[in-house]
Amino acid sequence: MSITIKTPEDLEGMRVAGRLASEVLDYLTPYVKPGVTTAHLDKLALDYIENVQGATSATVGYQPPGYPPFPAAICTSVNHQVCHGIPNDRPLKNGDILNIDVTVIKDGWHGDTSRMFIVGEGSIAARRLCQITYEAMWRGIAKVKPGARLGDIGHAIQTFVENAGYSVVREFCGHGIGRKFHEEPQVLHYGRPGTLEELVPGMVFTIEPMVNAGRREIREMPDGWTIVTRDRSLSAQWEHTVAVTETGYEILTLSAGYPPLPDFIRTTT
Ligand code: MF3
Ligand code: CO
Ligand code: CO
Repeated sequence: MSITIKTPEDLEGMRVAGRLASEVLDYLTPYVKPGVTTAHLDKLALDYIENVQGATSATVGYQPPGYPPFPAAICTSVNHQVCHGIPNDRPLKNGDILNIDVTVIKDGWHGDTSRMFIVGEGSIAARRLCQITYEAMWRGIAKVKPGARLGDIGHAIQTFVENAGYSVVREFCGHGIGRKFHEEPQVLHYGRPGTLEELVPGMVFTIEPMVNAGRREIREMPDGWTIVTRDRSLSAQWEHTVAVTETGYEILTLSAGYPPLPDFIRTTT
């Protein structure tokens, strides 16, 4: 197997899927408030994807080898949950931090994105973790251009996160994406500049750093999916689907409700 290079027509399809994924998060945003359950957010998301967007969820029934089928249209990872949290009937509380990760399929193409949400008013510590993780993702994205290497992305993310006093989760990474949900390459969120695969126009992959306020070690819960921090420290994650262009990158998972860009980001195409 190898890295698929997307044609201009392929990218047309991926732009649509990416925008739809981002629009699911726009749609959910006003519902993320104290008292709402993640199961309710999931119900809203699936209804929107299927009945408004005419798309399908990539995660409902998704079952990589060794996993039980994932039961929902969004992953909802709260506080010390790192990723792959399963929506449930516990109401969100003021001050919780929540990652919502959504992947939709439209015309066979996948769009995969996630954002952090702060429920009500977050603590200063919670807000800083979400902000640093957001900036870390964008620092990785800013490295994307032909001739750069995957290790440049990982290094930019790792150094920024560790200088802020946080740690990068190593067990999960970004991934190539297209007609398949997870394809080559693996996009590590740590590493050394000048190493690993060279980027060429038409590659499409996600950048989705998971950042822990404490130690980087994780644990898997008995549900077979939910990942938590071993030390129960808070964890945050942001994700975009990104295409390599002739001159740099194009973010495929943007939409009208996307939060403000960091000031060092001058362009999204
Ligand atoms: N969307 C996740 C990613 O960024 C994968 C979720 S798989 C699921 O790769 F089954 F947990 F939904
Ligand atoms: Co992903
Ligand atoms: Co995702």
